[in-house]
Amino acid sequence: MTPLADTHVHLLAGLDDGPPTADVALAMCRMLVTEGARHATALAHQNPCYPDNTADRLRASASALASALAEQNIPLSVYPTGEVMLAPTTLEEWRAGHLMSVGDHKQWLLVEMPHGEFVDVLPLAEALKPEGVRLIIAHAERYAELLDDVALTQTWIEAGCLIQVTARALAEPGAPEFEAALKRWAKGGFIHLLGSDGHGIERRRPKLAPGFARLVKWVGRAHAARIASEWGTAILRGEPVQVPAPCPLGRSWFSRLFGA
Ligand SMILES: [Fe+2]
Repeated sequence: MTPLADTHVHLLAGLDDGPPTADVALAMCRMLVTEGARHATALAHQNPCYPDNTADRLRASASALASALAEQNIPLSVYPTGEVMLAPTTLEEWRAGHLMSVGDHKQWLLVEMPHGEFVDVLPLAEALKPEGVRLIIAHAERYAELLDDVALTQTWIEAGCLIQVTARALAEPGAPEFEAALKRWAKGGFIHLLGSDGHGIERRRPKLAPGFARLVKWVGRAHAARIASEWGTAILRGEPVQVPAPCPLGRSWFSRLFGA
């Protein structure tokens, strides 16, 4: 079995619109284990709607969750993470220590767009580079400006960004055009990480396995495992990760990877 890594799941009880209680958070963790996950973000939003979500608060809450998981013998490793909403002040907030990086390793920031907006991440990516910090674009499939423009996606990846996609979008894309665009991303090597964006046990459940299965179908088991397991696990643990450059259109990621 491929031990999946959920790089986007809200597990910090009462901190945002995720699990309201510790019991619900633990139930979500059990669901994730059933899905095949062994590593997951203990994540909460960091945006103006949740001004109390300081890095210290996320750190403490993730630590409490890790203890509860150990007590209950639930085989899931969790890593404190902020889902940071991009703002003109993001760089300043990072430098002031207000933002929680992925796994608290100070290597990756998981960022989402401000509500109803699409902003250029390149200035922030460039500003963070000398500090050894890179960006992960959370649930990147939500942004048509990016999904429909592989040249732009490529530019962001070349600037050091990684692309995270939601498992449910892969498994149940709905509109054929949306599915075609996701498939183009997957086959072109534009997808690096998988997340459930799970929020609870009633709605927005932490489903990962169907998304992984769809990736296996589109890009084969070995590459699907890089996306759904290897790269995510490395990032959550703070280990180095190297992803191949996406391919120019018309060349498969496979030929790019192996120089065929
Ligand atoms: Fe989220």
